Amino acid sequence: MNVAVIGMGYVGATMSVALGLHGHQVLGIDVDKEKIASFNKGIIPIYEIGMEENLLSLMEAKQITFSEDLSDIDTCQVVMIAVGTPASADGRADLSYIEEVAKQLGKVMNRKKIIVIKSTVPVGTCDVVSHIIQDEQKRRGVSIPFEIVSNPEFLREGRALQDALYPERIVIGCSSSQAKKVMNELYHKVADKILFTSVRNSEMIKYASNAFLATKISFVNELARLTERVGADITEVARGMGMDSRIGEKFLHAGIGYGGSCFPKDTEALLAIGKDAEVELSLLQAVKKVNISQIKWFCQKMKTCMGHLQNKKIAVLGLTFKPNTDDIREAPALRILDFLMENGAAVSAFDPKGMKATSSLYPEVNYCATPLQAIRNTEAIILATEWPEIVKLDWKTAAKIVAKPILFDGRNALNPVEMENWGYHYTGVGVFTS
Ligand code: UDX
Repeated sequence: MNVAVIGMGYVGATMSVALGLHGHQVLGIDVDKEKIASFNKGIIPIYEIGMEENLLSLMEAKQITFSEDLSDIDTCQVVMIAVGTPASADGRADLSYIEEVAKQLGKVMNRKKIIVIKSTVPVGTCDVVSHIIQDEQKRRGVSIPFEIVSNPEFLREGRALQDALYPERIVIGCSSSQAKKVMNELYHKVADKILFTSVRNSEMIKYASNAFLATKISFVNELARLTERVGADITEVARGMGMDSRIGEKFLHAGIGYGGSCFPKDTEALLAIGKDAEVELSLLQAVKKVNISQIKWFCQKMKTCMGHLQNKKIAVLGLTFKPNTDDIREAPALRILDFLMENGAAVSAFDPKGMKATSSLYPEVNYCATPLQAIRNTEAIILATEWPEIVKLDWKTAAKIVAKPILFDGRNALNPVEMENWGYHYTGVGVFTS
């Protein structure tokens, strides 16, 4: 099947490679000339496990090509739109990129197509896209048949290609049997995972899923503030809770809050959808509030423990919003950097993939090539992202090269007993330490 994917960001690039690996002929499109030039050289501008080598083999097999020209979609039966829907100032999803693509499609489309909306969009957007295309066609005096299909992404950064190749579910919102047939063929390798539903249900499922996961995290994070006050340990509490299959063990890991390109943006967008529909989503409001205050609570705890931070040498280990990505968008670690700067600390930092992006925002930080370099002679260490390189550090040796062995574990990634045995003053999240 000939498939075009419009928008070569995380989602579009990953879907292009995955669809290529599933045997389709893929055309990746983006308006950014530099990006397309980079893809044409086999270089993916993002870090995502498994992507580069698979892209190269697909390019060698001539199974994937790239273009900045939208009119190249002519021979493609399926056009997948994966452009960004960033948050506007009021929290609503900014649909201008998707609307522009719809306009261009209306202008260049000459043959029947199934148009798949992969971008995260508010309920009703598929109808908007449909109207824009129809309007453009009217202007051209043509009527080329097309159907809009909603097919949200559930890719986790750091394992996006795996998620795209072996998804737990594929949600498809469409109305005609023709579209169902095409979508079954598109996902022929994983067709047993498809849930066919209405377009609006499908659009809603994406927001609902992310909002629910964010709720789980904020729930456990708020509870963590309580457990450490009452002599309990949130890790054990979450383990006990998670053994109930109705609750489930995943996304109950307490820490310094969720970040990334999806949860903060999507919860905000869902709140805006609620506002527009005059439905108060008070639980979701609380989820957002807890997430914002969690990092403040953690920073305050740190300051209380240290007395003051003025001129204190402090190391931040981990900068990305989670491990195995180079993405620092909405990363809690950046809020920690803000706090440390405001309080006059001298900060060193290490991250396997996030230092380049962070250094342009925080040039005053001393970026180090290894975690051990970052912690040398420091008076406190903050673990902000649980990269394996950081968690598996030789913490025993590390205790000997710091000025003071004070350790704040923002992800409960380390063993408190072990750390205390090695001489650290350990503070986790929701972990009762005597
Ligand atoms: C998320 C969704 O999981 C994915 O389905 C969707 O399509 C895009 O958004 P992603 O943003 O890549 O994916 O990250 P995810 O692994 O879900 O983690 C999100 C944030 O929550 C991270 O900051 C992570 O550190 C945090 N988190 C996750 C916790 O704090 N505790 C947990 O138990 C789980």
